[in-house]
Amino acid sequence: MRARRPAIVLLLATSAAACGPNTAPAPDVSVNDVSVNDVSATDAPSSPDVATVEDATTTPDATAPSGDPTWWRDIKPIADQMCNNCHVAGGIGPMALVDYATVRPMARLIANQVRDRIMPPWMPREGCRDVRDSRALTDAEIAKFVAWEAAGAPEGNMADYRAPAARPNTSRPLPARDGDIVVQPSGMYLPNQSLTDDYHCFIMDPALTTTRDVIGVRVTPGNARIVHHVILFEVRERSLPDLQRLDDAEPGPGYTCYGGAGVNPNVRAGTDGDLVDMSVQMVTGWAPGGVAGYFPTGTGVRLKPGSRLVMQVHYNLQAATRGMNDRSRVDLFLADAAASTQQAFWLPQANQSFTVPAGVPPTDPRATVVSNFRNTQLPVRIFGVAPHMHTRGHSIRVEAINASSASTCLVDIPRWDFHWQQGFFFQTPYRTAAGAMGDTFRTTCVYDNRPENQPYVDGVQVAPRDLRWGEGTNDEMCLNFFYVSI
Ligand code: HEC
Repeated sequence: MRARRPAIVLLLATSAAACGPNTAPAPDVSVNDVSVNDVSATDAPSSPDVATVEDATTTPDATAPSGDPTWWRDIKPIADQMCNNCHVAGGIGPMALVDYATVRPMARLIANQVRDRIMPPWMPREGCRDVRDSRALTDAEIAKFVAWEAAGAPEGNMADYRAPAARPNTSRPLPARDGDIVVQPSGMYLPNQSLTDDYHCFIMDPALTTTRDVIGVRVTPGNARIVHHVILFEVRERSLPDLQRLDDAEPGPGYTCYGGAGVNPNVRAGTDGDLVDMSVQMVTGWAPGGVAGYFPTGTGVRLKPGSRLVMQVHYNLQAATRGMNDRSRVDLFLADAAASTQQAFWLPQANQSFTVPAGVPPTDPRATVVSNFRNTQLPVRIFGVAPHMHTRGHSIRVEAINASSASTCLVDIPRWDFHWQQGFFFQTPYRTAAGAMGDTFRTTCVYDNRPENQPYVDGVQVAPRDLRWGEGTNDEMCLNFFYVSI
């Protein structure tokens, strides 16, 4: 393994360089904005004997001779499992979908949103690569909502209710406790009021005395109205003087940091059994929609003693949110110090040199932006992907193309929604070929730059303009992170 290490270094370095001209004034890896997420674990691999929800709910019921689905027998078990992590008192859903009295008057709305796959929110198309923790309903479940509404949304009998069976390919949740490391600024931060997009980096010393692997993450934006992303970086000891300089150059805690953490990654061969040593790497990220969870089982992002953690928060300020402050937080869950964890990396792929002309629809060839990266180095295992665009994103697809030009779909999002981004972990990791037979990683982004698809800034829909890569929420990105091991 030792002799091959420099090759990996090259892979990572090339990938960062492959991103093209960087409009951002930061010398970092091309981790400019993030979609990535707090991810989810791949524990509890699905086994054929796990009952599916359909098993639990499609059993014909003699007490309902008409055969019409009822709330108690058919709908509530699905709602409990697939809606009420959000639609519960205190959840992010606008109403609780827990009892019949609340649900009955909105049956039509519910059935329509379920039929149109607007709810539950879930962007990837089925039939690409199978991911864990999918929020998609099965066709049979959707049909039940539609038939239930069409039948007048009957309540049925409470006695027919059965708690839903465990859903296959669902990860074990993080414990409710605080993380082993909690990254949080010491006080509230008031973003720079003279900017529309303020990127601020907060520095924290986790005081690690040994190498530790992060295996689970929970990002909690303090003020969701102004926080547009959070990225956590590890900055290693040898770059602490750089970090200190950045911190000293600005009053108050932390510093302004477009692009990455503002520290040169200085990629080099690893020591002490590490595959690669970068003086700055991404640990996790969050954007609207991000979910907390474990990384794929047995993998983790490695932190070194002496390192600092740098939390970059992107604040987007509009008239209505000026003056608001924030204190966001990241909880990191570590593997036992003795556990052997496979080292994983977030590998970015981006096209940073595109122009999508003002007004063009997604069908226009000029609305499509592609990034290709051929990996002729070592084979990697791709455990998951985290694609990212901003508000004019229309669709995004990530694939691996082998030497015989055969494409393997990794994620395909036909209808991008800025508010529901997250990382997607596969049920089975994808192994790339390497060397002369190396796979090409391809990320294809399509934009909708028509007047009717422009975002609202301060309550006014902005006029279309040429879209280019940029740090502001009002700029665009074509970016994907691969969560890989070597
Ligand atoms: C991951 C969180 C989440 C899950 C899971 C989820 N929802 Fe939602 N739902 C929301 C949020 C947030 C909204 C508010 C609109 C938005 O942001 O898209 C919403 C809006 C809705 C609305 C529209 C309410 C209105 O007044 O316009 C309906 C209906 C709905 N959800 C039904 C469901 C059903 C039924 C399920 C399960 C089958 C479900 N949702 C699962 C988060 C969720």
